[in-house]
Amino acid sequence: MNNELIEKIKKLNQQHNAVILAHNYQRPEIQDLADFTGDSLGLSIKAAETDADVIVFCGVKFMAETAVILSPQKTVLLPDENAGCPLADMITADQLRDLKKKHPDALVVCYVNSSAEVKAESDYCCTSANAVEVVNSLPKNKPIIFVPDQNLGQFVIEKTGRDLILWPGYCHVHVVITEEDIKNAKAKHPDAIVMAHPECTRPVKALSDELLSTGQMLRYAKQSEAEQFIIATETGIIHTLKTQNPRKEFFPATDKAVCPNMKRITLEKILWSLQELQYKVTVPRDVRLKAKKALDRMVEILPRK
Ligand code: 13P
Ligand code: SF4
Repeated sequence: MNNELIEKIKKLNQQHNAVILAHNYQRPEIQDLADFTGDSLGLSIKAAETDADVIVFCGVKFMAETAVILSPQKTVLLPDENAGCPLADMITADQLRDLKKKHPDALVVCYVNSSAEVKAESDYCCTSANAVEVVNSLPKNKPIIFVPDQNLGQFVIEKTGRDLILWPGYCHVHVVITEEDIKNAKAKHPDAIVMAHPECTRPVKALSDELLSTGQMLRYAKQSEAEQFIIATETGIIHTLKTQNPRKEFFPATDKAVCPNMKRITLEKILWSLQELQYKVTVPRDVRLKAKKALDRMVEILPRK
């Protein structure tokens, strides 16, 4: 069944000169099928560079919007129009404008997990892979507003020593991972390295060995001498970690860390998306041009390796 679907998808993909981009949290069969799988930063760079006419974005809406902003001449498809990111929805452009009024001298850094309208109100964008570099590149005398994820923001404060103005947003998938989960996993696998995403809560991060974006986790696992790893992020990444490192072991900190929006994308929906060229993601021109400035500044700043 899957093979038949995959063959049909590949054929249509070629016919439309399309490229399938998938986030590291996608279902295993989608990560295997994709032309490129990566973290938010890697996917943004691919979207900007590809010469395909159509991008089928297997991820959530803000990621597809980012592809539109960076490559407006391309058709960007999101196979499920309801695949959103509740974290991105935790701040609106109006709320950010109000915050800017309270801190008129501040520069605004927004996490890529945000709407196009919020990006348009921001000076810089960042992902979890380069948030520290982006903040470190800003003038020392300037206050900085950081939206919308308070947990990533807290991590950036600790790494840079800068006093950021935070917004109380959070990712509901990462905050379900508890200190208890990490302690239990460590008790079961005492030699394992704990890799956590910066969206995890502070106590979870304090118990972890490495704080990394999903792309950085994949690189770290390949290069590390360690043989066992506890993974404190969405469990979808474990598929690719295992595929790329067949002799190493990977244990989720908890099976509860599953992003329902990421899992909305299925092979059936990808096929439908290519057949109907739906759902086309669009961003109004004025918003797109303003948001692009914040994203371009981000893409110029090198990510943490
Ligand atoms: P990455 O950029 O690390 O892949 O994270 C994206 C995300 O949505 C985390 O929840
Ligand atoms: Fe958004 Fe969290 Fe899902 Fe990432 S894991 S897409 S931040 S809800």
